[in-house]
Amino acid sequence: MALIIEPLFTASPEFVTQRLTIKAYVRSDLSELRAVNEDPEVTQYLPYPTWQTPEDAEAWHARLEKRAAAREGMQFAVRVQPSNELIGTVLLFGFGMEHEVAEVGYVIGRAHWGKGYVVEAMQPLIDFAFDRMGCHRLGAKLDTRNRGSARVLEKLGFTYEGTAREDWFKDSVRSGTAFYGLLRNEWQPTKRERR
Ligand SMILES: CC(C)(COP(=O)(O)OP(=O)(O)OC[C@H]1O[C@@H](n2cnc3c(N)ncnc32)[C@H](O)[C@@H]1OP(=O)(O)O)[C@@H](O)C(=O)NCCC(=O)NCCS
Repeated sequence: MALIIEPLFTASPEFVTQRLTIKAYVRSDLSELRAVNEDPEVTQYLPYPTWQTPEDAEAWHARLEKRAAAREGMQFAVRVQPSNELIGTVLLFGFGMEHEVAEVGYVIGRAHWGKGYVVEAMQPLIDFAFDRMGCHRLGAKLDTRNRGSARVLEKLGFTYEGTAREDWFKDSVRSGTAFYGLLRNEWQPTKRERR
């Protein structure tokens, strides 16, 4: 069986958790995302530069549209309730159709770190990937210095699988990439525990 990605793009899945709503990113979310991505602390370990101008935001949006049109990735806006403030995004991408694999990503504004929002937002997305898309494995890659992201993955049950040393050069600093993975049969038990 191959990975089923069409519902991700056509059914516009929406998720509601205890504190959050997670909905497909739309163009009108872009201006609110500036507060998140104009912060160098947030973008430090990300594969794009800190947004400094409206054009940077537009370039990010254009990349996203292109990836969605090519069925290469789907971004979701995460809003905290009841204020409905947009606090960041979570992402499914890197679809390997034949191999039934995908990757996850996430970005949350500095003011909202340390509150467990990313773990909470990722749970329904991971459920969707395994239950609705027929995913067998989810992967994640991160800068080896990104301790917060490593902890998020550990809390979600991902396993550290190894490091590519010094394969990344950004802001005049060389660093490595840590690889994590979560298999479907490792996720189902944690799901039962959450009920
Ligand atoms: C990394 C990031 C996603 C963490 O999100 P978060 O919502 O703050 O994470 P949580 O509140 O769910 O915290 C998860 C755990 O990580 C820990 N943690 C968070 N930031 C940390 C840091 N900088 N160093 C060490 N641990 C950290 C928390 O203490 C928590 O662990 P605990 O429950 O055992 O105390 C967030 O900091 C972020 O968006 N950073 C910028 C973008 C980014 O780097 N994205 C990931 C790219 S791979």
